[in-house]
Amino acid sequence: MIVGVIGSGAIGPDLAYGFLSALAREAGSKVYLVDIQQEALDRGAARIAGYLQKGVARGKIASSAAKAIQGALVPTRNLADLKDCDYVLEAASEDLSIKRRILAELEGIVRPDCLIGFATSGLPRKHIASEAKHPERCFVNHPFYPAWRSLPIEIVLSGDETLGAKMVSTIEKLGRVPIITADVECFAADDVFCNYIAEAARIVEEGVATPAQVDAIVHAAIGGGGPFNVMDLTKGNLLVHKCQQLMQKAETGSGWFAPPAILTKQGDKPWHDRKAPGDPAHDEALGKKVLDRILAVIFARTYFVVDHGVCEATDANWLMRMALGFRSGTLELAEELGAERVHELCTKYAAEHPGFYVPRSIIDKNLPAFQRTVKTERDGELAVVRIFRPEVKNALSKLTLSEIDRAIATLESDPTVRGIVLTSYDGALAGADINELAALPTPEACRKTCLDSHPIFDRIARSNKPIVAAVDGAVLGGGAELSMACHARVVGKSLVLGQPEVNLGIIPGYGGTQRLPRLIGVERAIDLLRTGRSVRAADACAWGWAHGEPVADPVASAKQLVREHLAGTKRVAPVDPAPLAVPDTLPQVDIGHRSLAIDAILVDVVRRGLKKPLAEGLTIEADGFARCRSTVDMDVGMKNFIQNGPRVPAAFLHE
Ligand SMILES: NC(=O)c1ccc[n+]([C@@H]2O[C@H](COP(=O)([O-])OP(=O)(O)OC[C@H]3O[C@@H](n4cnc5c(N)ncnc54)[C@H](O)[C@@H]3O)[C@@H](O)[C@H]2O)c1
Repeated sequence: MIVGVIGSGAIGPDLAYGFLSALAREAGSKVYLVDIQQEALDRGAARIAGYLQKGVARGKIASSAAKAIQGALVPTRNLADLKDCDYVLEAASEDLSIKRRILAELEGIVRPDCLIGFATSGLPRKHIASEAKHPERCFVNHPFYPAWRSLPIEIVLSGDETLGAKMVSTIEKLGRVPIITADVECFAADDVFCNYIAEAARIVEEGVATPAQVDAIVHAAIGGGGPFNVMDLTKGNLLVHKCQQLMQKAETGSGWFAPPAILTKQGDKPWHDRKAPGDPAHDEALGKKVLDRILAVIFARTYFVVDHGVCEATDANWLMRMALGFRSGTLELAEELGAERVHELCTKYAAEHPGFYVPRSIIDKNLPAFQRTVKTERDGELAVVRIFRPEVKNALSKLTLSEIDRAIATLESDPTVRGIVLTSYDGALAGADINELAALPTPEACRKTCLDSHPIFDRIARSNKPIVAAVDGAVLGGGAELSMACHARVVGKSLVLGQPEVNLGIIPGYGGTQRLPRLIGVERAIDLLRTGRSVRAADACAWGWAHGEPVADPVASAKQLVREHLAGTKRVAPVDPAPLAVPDTLPQVDIGHRSLAIDAILVDVVRRGLKKPLAEGLTIEADGFARCRSTVDMDVGMKNFIQNGPRVPAAFLHE
């Protein structure tokens, strides 16, 4: 892919570096970085070189890869160099006339199929693209600090479905998570963020508290470092000032949004003097006063965004956590406090601040319910349940499992739904949440974790509506087990399938020891279970783990399979729960460095479990999983994984 980034200021080089890293494995890819000022280009190129040097020094990037990345960067002052780009992201000054001028020039340069994004913090797409010859290929693509690795990018679509889908997949290919927002001033995240910063600035301007006190109070309560620390990192005072002006003049604006003068007075100057840091000490009353004001603003603006459909609730919650760095999403924070308290905070603030808008759901004390990690979409009589935890490859936490269960239960009781596809944000299902598993203190807690999952997996397996998993990429451990509870699996070409539990000093606990042999046969299953090795899409299909052949679009193919089942032309069915004959002698398997103690538990569970109906086999598996807790090797495996990741083999003690 050939990409152009226009503007080598605060954010442009970081965006270019992120794109270069995402495209590193694609031969022939290039990223142009354009600026009108040579010094800005030089500074940008030097910053990227610095990132690469640091990456190599820390062993995160091979020096050959760093060289290739450096070679794919083309700094230039000539906009015409972007003629071959597939995608150009404009990240020049936050000024409507500059953006329009760049767009007009760009339209005469780039190919007709080149997509054009604007990294604007708050200018609506309709204003930027109002004079465009081809507005349908123009999108807002709003990134966040630090732009080389921050996952979310807000996208305002153009209304052209095909180009919109292409824009979304381009952003995904560049390693980012697209979040769709409406075309309003400051979109979703910067509405909340800029008003949060503006309120903090007002608190300081009014002499209520100092930046050091505000940061300490806010960070202790909701994380995120505190508003002034964030401003010092992003040098964003003037940008927030501009965004406040935009929101003030918007249809939904009022005098309340007027930017505090202190923001422009501060300009690029840091709020904190690193050499003489301010005293964060404060009494309880001040802490409450500051926090109440900050929370009122954050909640009112978040529910404004959700109530007005600027952004869907699950997305908004995730976005606020990822983009603003708070300890939880702002909808979660509001839920934790409860509708009554949120109402009290916002109405009290509104009484003291004319023009402050309190959204309907807060006035009615009826905060909209939302799922944090699972989304449900409809496509006619089909529903797609999508696990959404892209920051951890959609790992299955306890919360996620319970949200999957709730989503499936709701769809089961909905007569307008006839079939379900279960998938994730990008098809990957990295497995159970290892931090949660490692924290299980006793064999009893381990057993309970397995037993608690049985009704969830059973609901899927026993559903009288066809449920087909659509997966791709890394589908490991718990993710593979969840897929096996479905009535069929459709896989993408990049599938990497495995039950790697033994590498972590445990055995599968969500049905893997019982469903995998019933699906692909004891001999193949025992090899995968005991070695933890993974297989590719072709094997998964050939062995009957997955339906048909690997496909380019697993969700579309899974929907097709569900439709064929409903039409009676194909049949999908859950794994046969009948006992399975186990040969007396199992094939020889070289388990390499893996734990002999865990291997013994695993083989015992497979042998005894398969001889029983599935439900009893699953209980035997839960007991086996609990036995792992009493081994030394579970601690060794878990610690190794958490400290060193999956590539470093654990030094098991076989105890
Ligand atoms: N800074 C952030 O953290 C951040 C975060 C999200 C979005 N954004 C958005 O990204 C954009 C850039 O922000 P920034 O903070 O990097 O701005 P900046 O002022 O630091 O840098 C802008 C750069 O654009 C260059 N420029 C101006 N006109 C140009 C033109 N015609 N052609 C090529 N280059 C030109 C300038 O020389 C300058 O180097 C803005 O729209 C901003 O709202 C910034």
